[in-house]
Amino acid sequence: MSDKRVITDERMMSAKVVRILLGVSGGIAAYKTAQLTRLLVKSGADVRVVMTEGAQAFITPLTFQALSGNSVHTHLLDPEAEAGMGHIELAKWADLIVIAPASADIMARLAAGMANDLLTTLCLATEAKVLLAPAMNQAMWRHPATQRNATQLTDYGYRLLGPDQGEQACGDVGLGRMLEPEALAELIQEAMPSLSPSAAPQPLAGKVVTITAGPTREAVDPVRYISNHSSGKMGFALAEAALQAGAHVNLIAGPVQIAAPKGVNLLPVQSAEQMLAASLSVIDQTDIFIAAAAVADFRPANAADQKMKKQAGQNEMVLHLVQNPDIVATIAQHEQRPFTVGFAAETQDVEIYAADKLVRKNLDMIIANDVSRTDIGFNSDENAVTLLWQHEGMLQAHKPEQAAKQQLAQDLIEHIIAQFCHLKQK
Ligand code: PMT
Repeated sequence: MSDKRVITDERMMSAKVVRILLGVSGGIAAYKTAQLTRLLVKSGADVRVVMTEGAQAFITPLTFQALSGNSVHTHLLDPEAEAGMGHIELAKWADLIVIAPASADIMARLAAGMANDLLTTLCLATEAKVLLAPAMNQAMWRHPATQRNATQLTDYGYRLLGPDQGEQACGDVGLGRMLEPEALAELIQEAMPSLSPSAAPQPLAGKVVTITAGPTREAVDPVRYISNHSSGKMGFALAEAALQAGAHVNLIAGPVQIAAPKGVNLLPVQSAEQMLAASLSVIDQTDIFIAAAAVADFRPANAADQKMKKQAGQNEMVLHLVQNPDIVATIAQHEQRPFTVGFAAETQDVEIYAADKLVRKNLDMIIANDVSRTDIGFNSDENAVTLLWQHEGMLQAHKPEQAAKQQLAQDLIEHIIAQFCHLKQK
């Protein structure tokens, strides 16, 4: 076959227009979906919009018809639509279903497998990948029912994009805002390559990975705290690598200055006790737990309610510290323990101490790093690690070259997946 013909074929393949079924449910963020529609059409996708009844209270079908260039579907048994394209045909038409905004209600109905309107029926009938952009009040997002629905949807293989942290239309501040249309369009584009058979494998599709990252802050009084130099970069890089492997990622993060990877379920915390509570709140749904956080081993026994005043002539202050819970050891002892990976931050005999922690904390794997060096470990862009695990009673080690934390994270996630799958098969 001549090169020209091959090139034509390849061009034909790459010219495949991705067909996106864009579901809009009821929420004030529906107005942002108009911009998302415009961006997706501009990227060359063929977009058909499906609106729930609730969505029509916020924006008209005519808006989406004008932006998508296709008729808008609003009813399950819509004579006009049935004439054009019935709901089963529509479900088969879609290469990708995106629901933006995804209200708490639509998430609950999808999690329950309901088909009481067109959008839920299409999601049951389709074999296409389904992406959801949650949008709701922060208290609704945090509600255990919503968190349970989010995890159930992940177990189905759906992928959540966001939600985002920030000020909400209702005046609250917190997690629950829909990601901005530009960010959603970028994430949807990234999901598109996986529509073609040659796309990167998604070994963690349908799996939940929970990662702790960053420092903890242990309050001394309202203005002082005990903390450390963790920037969160290592844990955030692992979250990004797990996302790319197809996982739903809960990222439990201490106070850091870096932005969370788009698409994670971010659970921001301050103290070790809050980090433990957040970890336990998602443990039932977690398949792999990675403890990258630099957790304070101790906290002040009694944090003062008011700023502690220095007394005249006072030359020293004694702080009575008590031990914090060991988060990763608690997770590893849990009756529904996930595959548990810890870190070891050592300044000498790194691998010896790490091997000891692997056993003492009942971990499946441990990632050792030397934190006495300034070019790796805390707040550095690079790291040098040794991954240790037991295999048939023998200690195994994988020691990749020193590299950027993002690159190391990819390598570590690959090895974690391999050992996770090996143990699953046993
Ligand atoms: O965040 P960066 O700036 O990128 O820096 C990355 C890092 C150096 C923080 C990271 O690579 C790292 O080493 N994280 C673990 C730091 C730490 O607390 O190590 P440790 O040896 O003290 O703890 C051992 C393990 O137990 C860790 O998985 C830790 O998360 C966990 N732990 C420790 C204490 C505690 N109370 N609860 C825990 O879960």
